[in-house]
Amino acid sequence: MQLTAVSILLVCLVLPGFRALDVAGPCRTLPVVQSFDVTQYMGMWYEIQRYPHRNQPNGDCVVVNYTLNQTTGEVAILNRMRVIADDATVEARGTAVTDPDYPGQGVLRVRFEETPPEVPASYYRILGVVYDRYAVVWSCRQNGANSVESAWVLSRAPTLEGVSVSNVKAIIDQHLDQESFTITKQGEQYCGGAAALTTSIVVFILSVFVMLQSNN
Ligand SMILES: *[C@@H]1O[C@H](CO)[C@@H](O)[C@H](O)[C@H]1NC(C)=O
Ligand SMILES: *[C@@H]1O[C@H](CO)[C@@H](O)[C@H](O)[C@H]1NC(C)=O
Repeated sequence: MQLTAVSILLVCLVLPGFRALDVAGPCRTLPVVQSFDVTQYMGMWYEIQRYPHRNQPNGDCVVVNYTLNQTTGEVAILNRMRVIADDATVEARGTAVTDPDYPGQGVLRVRFEETPPEVPASYYRILGVVYDRYAVVWSCRQNGANSVESAWVLSRAPTLEGVSVSNVKAIIDQHLDQESFTITKQGEQYCGGAAALTTSIVVFILSVFVMLQSNN
């Protein structure tokens, strides 16, 4: 199947790490998980909801696979999402490390392969986690006098259920803006089986995205 350059650019806007909310004022300091266990955090997560980018088209079926290298302590990231209308799958790879400035805390310094070297790494701050159920992740970067926030609710299953729903809601009510989240479509009816996820893979080109952003 074929994708136009424009649709490639559009789907790039919705990869994790590039969903954002403009916020007045400098980055807030939010409390992160203490005694963070990176090993338990590894594996597959389904994205349940996220903060959108204002120009964001639909990107759904977002899954993240974290793999820890026991030797280096580095985490390999594989993000995958589907643009249902285009029947296209988009992948992004990166790495994460627990940050030495925040020993034992839920802070991951994340960098994607296509990120230009001059762009600083993102800090993914884990506001809440139950390792076999859910995680609430928040990131903020300074943008002049203002800040740009990203947030994700991740789940080990394609849906969030039971007490996880109220736990996640409590975290959001305290620190984030529920109204600003958009729901990510998940499940067989939208995302198909595992095979559908490998049909057409477009490698994410961040530099083009940055160009697009700076033209906004
Ligand atoms: C996650 O990535 C690891 C390492 O590449 C791989 O072995 C594993 O099968 C992946 N898990 C899933 C569910 O795709
Ligand atoms: C871990 O990283 C080391 C050094 O980069 C590499 O040689 C090794 O293959 C990696 N192990 C896995 C399981 O990826």
